[in-house]
Amino acid sequence: MALQIRQLGPGFVGEVSGADLTKPLSAAEIAAIHDGMDAHAVLIFHDQPLDDEQQLRFTQSLGTIEMAIGVSLRKPEEQRLPNSFADVSNLDKDGKPFARDDRRRLYALGNQLWHSDSSFKVVPAKYSLLHGRVVPSKGGNTEFADMRAAYNALDAETKALCEDLVCEHSQMFSRAKHGFTEFTDEERARLKPVLQRLVRVHPRTGRKSLYLSSHAGRIVGWPEPEAKAFLMDLTEMATQREFTYAHTWRAGDLVMWDNRTTMHRARPFSHTEPRDVRRTTLMGDAPTIEQQAA
Ligand code: OGA
Ligand code: MN
Repeated sequence: MALQIRQLGPGFVGEVSGADLTKPLSAAEIAAIHDGMDAHAVLIFHDQPLDDEQQLRFTQSLGTIEMAIGVSLRKPEEQRLPNSFADVSNLDKDGKPFARDDRRRLYALGNQLWHSDSSFKVVPAKYSLLHGRVVPSKGGNTEFADMRAAYNALDAETKALCEDLVCEHSQMFSRAKHGFTEFTDEERARLKPVLQRLVRVHPRTGRKSLYLSSHAGRIVGWPEPEAKAFLMDLTEMATQREFTYAHTWRAGDLVMWDNRTTMHRARPFSHTEPRDVRRTTLMGDAPTIEQQAA
């Protein structure tokens, strides 16, 4: 059966059928997936019983993989997965859920804030591919928001105000929102802010989007409280229900999103239940702005 995409929800989510991601895809299928990402921004593939190798192969067939270096607080010897994966699960190396007050769990709760993956990196992520291996009995949805629709909904004055603004992004800013403020000197050095434009243009569609993320904590040239208040207002506006979609996980779902045009967030679930979701990520093409010398 040929690959087909059916639109779900408010128009930026597509449900894909007729694709078997456990097998190598044809050039035509890969092109159809890229086109589908441009048209929608989030694609959902159900019933894909992938292992790590198959997930990596599918990811690499779409572009260059981004290594998950320094994005969680797992020490190298605590990692369940190689750096080609972002381990978004709540599991330690033995497959047991982290205790409620485990520092790694508390840090990962930052995923419950609306964000775009790797906006804290100089070259931020393109697509993220999240595969559900084990999902909790209740809760743990992932929600998405369409930042092209949000940009379009701004009035002309706000669009003009945003047009040339540059924000500072760091995981320290997102974690501070949750009250997670204790970092070692080594972590602080690693989490140094990077610059990102607030308005992005998609390289293939030419459409503009608001490049918001919980990691954005300052605007260059603005007083910090004013910047934070402005970014909070924009985020509130951009994540109104009409711009969002909630994905309810089934084991075997592969959900792929374009970080250049969407934000997402995890929803809570019981800390006693395992949730094994594994992310592979594609690297973006370029910085959104020229970075100042460090
Ligand atoms: C991610 C992420 C949300 C979730 O994988 O980047 O933010 O629901 N995941 O786990
Ligand atoms: Mn994320």
